[in-house]
Amino acid sequence: MAEPSSNAVLSQVGNTPLVNLNFLFDLPENGPTFLGKLEYLNPGGSIKDRAALYMIEDAEKRGLLRPGGTIIEASSGNQGIALAMIGALKGYKVIITVPKHTSSEKVATLRAYGAEVHVCRDTDTLEHPESYHSVARGIFEKHANAFMPNQYFNTKNPEAHYRTTGPELWKQIEGKMTHFISGMGSCGTISGIAQYLKEQNPKITVHGVDSANSLLSSDEPKSYETEGIGVDVISENLRRDLIDEIHPVEDRDAFQTARRIAHKGLLLGPSSGAVLHVAHNLLSQLTSSDIAVCILADSGRAYLGKVFSNNALFRNDEEVALFEKSVVNG
Ligand SMILES: Cc1ncc(COP(=O)(O)O)c(C=O)c1O
Repeated sequence: MAEPSSNAVLSQVGNTPLVNLNFLFDLPENGPTFLGKLEYLNPGGSIKDRAALYMIEDAEKRGLLRPGGTIIEASSGNQGIALAMIGALKGYKVIITVPKHTSSEKVATLRAYGAEVHVCRDTDTLEHPESYHSVARGIFEKHANAFMPNQYFNTKNPEAHYRTTGPELWKQIEGKMTHFISGMGSCGTISGIAQYLKEQNPKITVHGVDSANSLLSSDEPKSYETEGIGVDVISENLRRDLIDEIHPVEDRDAFQTARRIAHKGLLLGPSSGAVLHVAHNLLSQLTSSDIAVCILADSGRAYLGKVFSNNALFRNDEEVALFEKSVVNG
């Protein structure tokens, strides 16, 4: 018998495919193996479906979210989209604040699910009273019967990945992984998966991918364009002890890699571009028996007007021509 309404969709969160990515790097037969976890195949289009669903169901169990309630969250997009989808499926009102640099496609997606969206100023710090975090908190404080998942501080965020994504990955790869590469935003993904993986095999090296302009990776943090990654809130959800190396990535490298990869047949978002940029840089350190797993958090479809339009990425026609040439020549 079919599952009742909303559960049928929500039960499809997770269990995403793990595919061989060696074709992207033109690797020789005896080179290392790169595998990509296609998280954009989740029902809401990104890895954030997993933690959002886990946090909402935990809040329901604990009576923090009751029928007729409102979900409020500050999100650079995907966490908000996951919550908007879950709210629509479960019958909750959803209010999301986003920073101005969020792609117009993501804002439109939030609205399409029926969420109320507040687009806030891009600020250099989250403590700024006009940052999307401060605005979300202000809305939450004025709302009765509301729940704020607060992904940066909610320990259920990494727990979602520790309990689901980590074991799922381990089973798929039959324990044969040597390297794990993941973007870092709220750090739920990397901390939860790394904890599970290191418990299975402490020798697995964990590589975190951050924005070069984030609070964590820069002495002078400033706003950046690569959505999804960038550690601007340092909380216990960042398990620094489990991450062997943190790689800061510039917007241009993330964007250009996403574009190169699209020409090879995988349309991914810029955070995946950043992850694959790091994977490519690690190539020379890997041996033929190494297996590196890359988390590919979302699709490029949400960034067509930004990452995949020349004007957004290049300073002048000369740079466009150089890039087009490099794509053709590999
Ligand atoms: C596209 C994308 N990549 C990576 C991440 C990072 O995931 P996490 O917040 O679990 O660190 C996010 C989080 O929003 C994201 O949206």
